Amino acid sequence: MGLIGLGRHGARYAKHLLEGVPSCRLAAVSRQDARAGEQFAKEHGVPFHADWRDLLRRPDVQAVLVVTPPSLNREICLAAAGAGKALLIEKPLACSTAEAGEMVAAARAAGVPLMTAQTLRFTPVLRRLRERLDAIGSVEFFALCMRAERPPHAWLDQKDKAGGGVVLEIGIHLFDLLRYLTGREVVEVRAETAKRHTKQVEDLAQLRFTLASGAACFVELSRVSGGRLCRAEAVGQQGQLIADAGTSTLTRIEGWKVVETETVPDRPTIEIALEVFARSLTDKSPMPVSGEDGLRAVAMAEAAYRSAALGKPVKIG
Ligand SMILES: NC(=O)c1ccc[n+]([C@@H]2O[C@H](COP(=O)([O-])OP(=O)(O)OC[C@H]3O[C@@H](n4cnc5c(N)ncnc54)[C@H](OP(=O)(O)O)[C@@H]3O)[C@@H](O)[C@H]2O)c1
Repeated sequence: MGLIGLGRHGARYAKHLLEGVPSCRLAAVSRQDARAGEQFAKEHGVPFHADWRDLLRRPDVQAVLVVTPPSLNREICLAAAGAGKALLIEKPLACSTAEAGEMVAAARAAGVPLMTAQTLRFTPVLRRLRERLDAIGSVEFFALCMRAERPPHAWLDQKDKAGGGVVLEIGIHLFDLLRYLTGREVVEVRAETAKRHTKQVEDLAQLRFTLASGAACFVELSRVSGGRLCRAEAVGQQGQLIADAGTSTLTRIEGWKVVETETVPDRPTIEIALEVFARSLTDKSPMPVSGEDGLRAVAMAEAAYRSAALGKPVKIG
């Protein structure tokens, strides 16, 4: 595997690969900061390339992990597809549906596997929520929430680098999760966004999605809090299920009572994403989260921005 991007999140990929993921070896890395890259190479005996294009030329790199600001994803994806390398690209797949569509088409034309790292769907407690949905009867609506601290990087408030704010950066996790939990497509969105501490992109958003089944999903997003919260609630005719990703706890409520509380053993989602990516490459089986899934999530984000700008619901094509 060749890793492009060795920042906050890329360092986690590197850590898991260095600790050992079945069928994987970290063959080369690339980042902008040449001094830090050389230092990493020295410490871990992994070749460093200041220019990611050189990493793509290596015959020992069979798959490329893209963990850079999303504005770089398209260019790297097209070049990697051209070089015949499989791709695991961090969310958001791209800054727009046009870019994401181009990337998916390029991978398909080149015959290279493309996975989008929509890692939230690998969170054990959220998987458990999906398994237990039958326990609450017909689901009337979902309520999803992700709150995080103020953006840790300056580029997250630069529209040309990040593509958007909390909707595209963290909302995209929940948009994909909604498709994963329901197995349905979302047909409409109504969104409102606001900038509280950010200048170029939104750091608060509230959205209402409508699923093809007619069920609704309310989503709350922010990057203004001290500390984090990630919660998924399924509200059914016979009860409610509440999954808290922070505590890895699933709670079932009937009437006013908590009738069941389950603590689900947690695992780092990147480790799981790397495992399933490698397994799909080895087995030549479909990617567990495809490029099309990544594209679909970007389309939901893009429709949300259009809705917020127009002040009315927008259909998602
Ligand atoms: N799935 C998740 O839960 C999750 C969580 C966090 C982040 N992410 C995603 O991961 C991506 C990176 O986020 P991050 O927090 O790791 O950001 P970050 O800390 O700023 O890291 C970005 C990395 O990209 C490198 N980079 C930038 N331009 C480059 C270029 N031209 N060539 C090679 N490398 C280049 C940077 O190099 P230098 O450091 O040398 O400047 C840095 O290592 C984003 O897409 C983000 O949405 C996903």
